[in-house]
Amino acid sequence: MTTSRTVPASGNPLIDHQHGRLTELIRLAAQSARNDMDQFGAAVLAFRTALAEHFKVEGVIFRGAGFTESAGHDGAHASILERLDAIARRLSDLDAAAARHAVVDEMERILFDHELLEDSAYWEVIRHRAAEPAVAWEPSLETGLPWLDDQHRHLIAIINELIVAATKPHRETAIAELMERFLRHARQHFAAEERQLAAWGNAVSTHRAEHARLIEEVESLAMTIGSDPKALVNHYLRFWMLDHIRVTDRQDFADRG
Ligand SMILES: [Fe+2]
Ligand SMILES: [Fe+2]
Ligand SMILES: [Fe+2]
Ligand SMILES: [Fe+2]
Repeated sequence: MTTSRTVPASGNPLIDHQHGRLTELIRLAAQSARNDMDQFGAAVLAFRTALAEHFKVEGVIFRGAGFTESAGHDGAHASILERLDAIARRLSDLDAAAARHAVVDEMERILFDHELLEDSAYWEVIRHRAAEPAVAWEPSLETGLPWLDDQHRHLIAIINELIVAATKPHRETAIAELMERFLRHARQHFAAEERQLAAWGNAVSTHRAEHARLIEEVESLAMTIGSDPKALVNHYLRFWMLDHIRVTDRQDFADRG
């Protein structure tokens, strides 16, 4: 059994934390494969859930960093999750320990092959983007609705203040206040977008779910990386903002001005 393998560091603390969790779940599955069917099944299912979550976070970071040609990559993620679903359906038939060990090998292949062959090529550019001193406004962010573009510029300005504050020592209070301000303005902005979509008679639920997800993620990712707001802002929030505006906001609002 080769469960001592680890995924090389990507340089993104959120991605690395999730890789650590996925590797731990493979180790748990390997440990229980011999004689604890219940724990083995729970570890496989938890791996599937954690991997789906990881792909979502990774997708936001990749697209936010500027990799827009991600359809092929999304397809790779979907087929990996299908392979895991097929395994999950067979779990109760895996009576022999050898069959369970084969599943652990498959989980390892799924994680390590994908990370090393398909993901690691992106990591250097993502590290470089995360180190940029500010998020720049660019034409690809414009929706053509002046009030909406103004609100986006304002949210990005707060993110840029956070990026600057995070580079300085002893700024915990200032950072906490800025984060609070960002979330307050983000909530108001999300509500304004949702009202506008409803006023046009457009479907709101998918867009609203993405907004809700960001608020949840900021809270849960903040816990994941401890009290390191710099990591949250530089390695996730800035990418989320760019990805959400370019993909979801532009899809629902561009050319409606
Ligand atoms: Fe990954
Ligand atoms: Fe990937
Ligand atoms: Fe927006
Ligand atoms: Fe939005």
